[in-house]
Amino acid sequence: MAECVLVIGGGGREHALAWKLAQSPHVKQVLVAPGNAGTADCGKIRNSEVSVTNHAILAQFCKDHNVGLVVVGPEVPLAAGMVDDLTAAGVACFGPSARAAQLEASKSFSKAFMDRHGIPTARWGSFTDPQLACDYIRTASFPALVVKASGLAAGKGVIVAANQDEACAAVKDIMKEKAFGSAGETVVVEELLEGEEVSCLCFSDGSSVAPMPPAQDHKRLQDGDLGPNTGGMGAYCPTPQVSQELLEQIKVKVLQKTIDGMKAEGAPYIGVLYAGLMLTKDGLRVLEFNCRFGDPECQVWARNLPTGLLAR
Ligand code: AMP
Ligand code: GLY
Repeated sequence: MAECVLVIGGGGREHALAWKLAQSPHVKQVLVAPGNAGTADCGKIRNSEVSVTNHAILAQFCKDHNVGLVVVGPEVPLAAGMVDDLTAAGVACFGPSARAAQLEASKSFSKAFMDRHGIPTARWGSFTDPQLACDYIRTASFPALVVKASGLAAGKGVIVAANQDEACAAVKDIMKEKAFGSAGETVVVEELLEGEEVSCLCFSDGSSVAPMPPAQDHKRLQDGDLGPNTGGMGAYCPTPQVSQELLEQIKVKVLQKTIDGMKAEGAPYIGVLYAGLMLTKDGLRVLEFNCRFGDPECQVWARNLPTGLLAR
């Protein structure tokens, strides 16, 4: 019996992971830190108040409670090096290292990485000076209307502007008014892409990839996709937008290339890699990488998974 599994996080994604892990006959108990009302006391699942920011305390807690595996849900602890620190303390932990998590934690790193490795993405520029960002918006030969805080901003740091004035106002909000704090010290300005947006996730051991069934998020507020973009208000999976043939292309041109590139750059990527893709009329483009399971995608994916989540 694999003792106890600790899930880090407090959203629907973590509830879905805990629910699926608890079904394993190998698991006696699932702890969730901090968890939420749904994971408070639910069969094998219960919440824990252990610190998720002090990694030394967390490592000691894992040893004291025979935690055989830690599964990290959100990006913030991954970017803060939770996997590096727990692994160094001898605690088995699922997720990428802080260096590998840069693929999500720094959009300017991620865009430059894609260019270095020939991974298709929107044309872009990265700026630490708001005036230069605005000059780029006004002079680019394509609609440079998407403005992003480069750092982590809880899924809210992206503004899809309707015109150049709005895009320049977004630069001002992010860089001068500090709408997303230090996450906006660098901005990425991108070409506006149009098409269907899909989420393609895979598991990786640092060398190979095992894709999950693709999902689609409900992104924009209001009926008919007329409202502003959100981080995702619901999802379904699998999505008919991605045929088996397209999934194979995504696997080769995006997922495997990313894993190979990270390995070649000395930051092997182990964990779940999430590629947010736009299917444009000119082909697929990566909008973003996330270094974790998606939320809400994980909720529909876990429901669909015919097997267990934990193998011995
Ligand atoms: P990101 O965090 O980079 O994925 O951006 C959040 C959301 O903004 C995405 O899920 C898309 O819906 C939208 N978005 C991001 N980049 C672009 C782009 N270049 N063109 C159109 N929409 C975008
Ligand atoms: N559903 C979008 C995300 O997890 O970032």
